[in-house]
Amino acid sequence: MGAKPVILVTGANGQLGKELKQLEQAFSGYTFIFLSREDLPIHHFELVRNFFKGYHPQYLINCAAYTAVDKAETEQDLAFQVNGEAVGVLAAVCKEYRTRFLHISTDYVFDGNGTAPYQPDSPTNPQSVYGASKLMGEQQAVQFNPESIIIRTSWVYSEFGKNFVKTMMKLMAEREDLNVVNDQVGSPTYAADLAAVIMQIINSGKWVPGLYHYSNEGVINWYEFALAIKEISQSGCRVHPIPSSQYPTPAKRPSYSVMDTTSLLHTWSLAPKPWKESLKVCMARLHN
Ligand SMILES: NC(=O)c1ccc[n+]([C@@H]2O[C@H](COP(=O)([O-])OP(=O)(O)OC[C@H]3O[C@@H](n4cnc5c(N)ncnc54)[C@H](OP(=O)(O)O)[C@@H]3O)[C@@H](O)[C@H]2O)c1
Repeated sequence: MGAKPVILVTGANGQLGKELKQLEQAFSGYTFIFLSREDLPIHHFELVRNFFKGYHPQYLINCAAYTAVDKAETEQDLAFQVNGEAVGVLAAVCKEYRTRFLHISTDYVFDGNGTAPYQPDSPTNPQSVYGASKLMGEQQAVQFNPESIIIRTSWVYSEFGKNFVKTMMKLMAEREDLNVVNDQVGSPTYAADLAAVIMQIINSGKWVPGLYHYSNEGVINWYEFALAIKEISQSGCRVHPIPSSQYPTPAKRPSYSVMDTTSLLHTWSLAPKPWKESLKVCMARLHN
């Protein structure tokens, strides 16, 4: 029997990285190497090269990203270094070592003024530093490694790290009233579902380079998302809808973030799960 294919996972301590770690046993035909920011800061290019020399991985799943959307407005250089330049280096090193590169991007590459679901080839027009830096990463990945697979996702939550679901559950337990914006629509993504999709793509043995979209199925606004969290947690907190104008943030949020996910379905027969089912699964895990 030959050696197992090696999968390097960067940004392993983030939401998606930790959900991939949960799948390690289910995909025991692979050797996973999980690298946190401390293990491998992806913007230290020499370290990246040395890792590849040592491991010769068959796959790299890049879960590392500068994700502090508001802070990015004042930390432009670091955001572009991590989300842009470093992705180009990862892509180039993958090409050199014949490693298959799977990278994650975001709905923030669009301007959010759309009225119909964004297609992978819809025009991009980021409205924030974070969005622009992630777009640079996509472009660098394609330029330095045309064999890359890039999956854009939106509204990611999980049992791990900081996210809307965990924040709402905490606030609903502490407060009697909560205001949530109702004029930004999109589709939530349970990071565990995205992790499973990534592994199914790898395990399919079918590598079709290109840009794809993945989120859970269904379109809601943040207020509706909060109402579902309230319902599932049986919280007595009163949730009120407010316009975004009453909740200003340094980085502009897209009003419309819905992405068409059918190319994943057509290419790998991967149909997204309905958002509320996945939310229930995540909240049950959090409860336990
Ligand atoms: N969260 C969302 O709502 C959302 C929406 C759309 C797209 N995405 C994309 O989905 C992907 C996964 O996001 P996520 O929610 O899992 O993000 P996350 O929880 O913020 O995880 C990102 C990870 O990257 C690590 N990291 C940051 N800078 C790094 C560097 N220079 N070198 C190596 N690692 C570094 C972080 O390390 P520390 O743990 O030390 O901070 C963190 O563990 C990202 O590409 C993100 O842009 C996320």
